[in-house]
Amino acid sequence: MAPVLEVRALRKVFGDLTAVDGISFTVNEGEIYGFLGPNGAGKTTSISMICGLLDPTEGEVLVQGIGIRENPREVKRRLGVVPQEVAVYEELSARQNLDFWGGIFGLRGGILKKRVAELLEQVGLEDRADEPVKNFSGGMKRRLNLAMGLVHDPQLILLDEPTVGIDPQARHKILDIVKEVVAQGRTVLYTTHYLEEAEDLCDRLAVIDHGRILAEGTVDGLKAQLGEGSLLTVQGQFTAASLTAAAARVEGLQPVEIADGRGMLMVGNGGPGVSHSLEGLFSAGLTFDDINIKEPNLEDLFLKLTGRELRD
Ligand SMILES: Nc1ncnc2c1ncn2[C@@H]1O[C@H](COP(=O)(O)OP(=O)(O)OP(=O)(O)O)[C@@H](O)[C@H]1O
Ligand SMILES: [Mg+2]
Repeated sequence: MAPVLEVRALRKVFGDLTAVDGISFTVNEGEIYGFLGPNGAGKTTSISMICGLLDPTEGEVLVQGIGIRENPREVKRRLGVVPQEVAVYEELSARQNLDFWGGIFGLRGGILKKRVAELLEQVGLEDRADEPVKNFSGGMKRRLNLAMGLVHDPQLILLDEPTVGIDPQARHKILDIVKEVVAQGRTVLYTTHYLEEAEDLCDRLAVIDHGRILAEGTVDGLKAQLGEGSLLTVQGQFTAASLTAAAARVEGLQPVEIADGRGMLMVGNGGPGVSHSLEGLFSAGLTFDDINIKEPNLEDLFLKLTGRELRD
């Protein structure tokens, strides 16, 4: 598969703060590539550099092999951006917003009219197309925002948290539209801090925090970085040191994240199993108020990589 987007050693420094700290990744044709990271991770700053809204401090962005510094016009023609903050004219109707935006991209007359009608249908706004946008619900505005990013039929679509602040049903609609656009041969870079979205949608994803990519791969590949097995979480009146010492004496038990009073440990497949592992910890004199056993998910990987939860 040909790469549609290549990002090389991209950096952005604001004064003392390094918002994006040398990220590199490639998104291939027809892929949905996810950027999963908490507030302030550097997702929007990355998107802004990729679409040419913000000059990088260092690094390079290529869209279908074309450098954004060398040929910004060509790159902008090939990519569509759906910004995190909904950017629509409230006094205008959905159709007028799309007409206006299509005009900026040079669409005119019958071609523009047809394209706008197509998009209104695709995002399910054809019934409300001629009402002022200020009457719309949050989910409807989000769908219009998405349609605006698609108006010039770009090859690459950058979606910056397109489902924030809307109800699950509205969110589902947006995800379905994204999947449909990709089925039509387009490529997507999708930022989110919702784990379920990343798992459901993305072919590959990067876990990002403090402007760095901490891990990259398919959902299954990333989970496998935690190891195969079950994740054991214990809580109680113990110190981090005592749990670490006790775990070290149990074969096949790997600490993932240990703090005073709370521990997350991986019980490897093919080892002595969960009950033997627990017995090992009990026999070291530890007692627990709460014990939980489950399959590891991306949230656990995130906690392991960053020491913090994905959600604030
Ligand atoms: N124009 C700016 N000037 C100074 N600092 C900035 C600027 N833009 C972003 N930052 C800082 O850069 C860091 C990354 O911000 P960014 O908006 O890229 O994060 P994000 O991952 O998109 O977060 P969120 O999930 O909240 O949208 C933050 O610490 C932010 O305060
Ligand atoms: Mg953001």
